[in-house]
Amino acid sequence: MEFPVINMEKLYGEERAATKEKIKDACENWGFFELLNHGIAPEFLDTVERFTKGHYKKCMEQRFKELVASRALEGVETEIKDMDWESTFFLRHLPESDIALIPDLDDEYRKVMKEFALKLEKLAEELLGLLCENLGLEKGYLKKAFYGSRGPTFGTKVSNYPPCPKPDLIKGLRAHTDAGGIVLLFQDDKVSGLQLLKDGQWIDVPPMRHSIVVNLGDQLEVITNGKYKSVEHRVIAQTDGTRMSIASFYNPGSDAVIYPAPALVEATEAEKKQVYPKFVFQDYMNLYAGLKFQPKEPRFEAMKAVETNVAIATV
Ligand SMILES: [Fe+2]
Repeated sequence: MEFPVINMEKLYGEERAATKEKIKDACENWGFFELLNHGIAPEFLDTVERFTKGHYKKCMEQRFKELVASRALEGVETEIKDMDWESTFFLRHLPESDIALIPDLDDEYRKVMKEFALKLEKLAEELLGLLCENLGLEKGYLKKAFYGSRGPTFGTKVSNYPPCPKPDLIKGLRAHTDAGGIVLLFQDDKVSGLQLLKDGQWIDVPPMRHSIVVNLGDQLEVITNGKYKSVEHRVIAQTDGTRMSIASFYNPGSDAVIYPAPALVEATEAEKKQVYPKFVFQDYMNLYAGLKFQPKEPRFEAMKAVETNVAIATV
């Protein structure tokens, strides 16, 4: 059982079919894979890392230490279940950027992150195209499904996980599945900590220099009618070293209507009953906000209940 690593260069040579098959297997059985040679220059990723780590040292570290002191977290003796051992900020890129409004970023860092977002947006769309091919969906289906009236929502969560004295009592990030579409992660290549749940076991996502880790969110599970699944993951804080994690979320637009692709709903009478609901993406996000660290199934059920009520109301 080896964590799936995809060499994207091979998509553009004679190993295309085998590489696509590897991605298909990863989507069906892992919900996660790691990309090498994805087209984003290693030197550019080094620049993103340098700025992000510099910004953490300059603007975030002290604030985090004060938070830890104010909640006396160094000395806890029972498990903390209502917070994560992480220092974060969020940048929105689409439908419109808010990078200019984020405090404490110097101009050069803003510029680098804007460029980074453009590259990742392109990579996310390339991956959605490959997923369409693998699923037998018409070209552009997923991009269109995410589009809504103003295009996708795209944003980046920049996190640092400082060394933690009690990693067994405070998670870096508690277990959850991601709510959205497809997630692209540029993670620290030295300080590990990200784990996914597979067949009841927590498995490390291996840190690899200049790789991009990809995982699928709840919306792709709905659209594929469960052929692909969002997978639970968490971050274990380490006792040594600060872990950098830059996760970019390519999600549907807030008014996009999400439902299983008709082509992926089984045609036989017995299986025709759709398992997954139809809803407006923002309604799902409103629900997720309060239930992120709970299993996803009740969220799907809740959306189904809303859908049923809407259907009854319109009869
Ligand atoms: Fe996540």
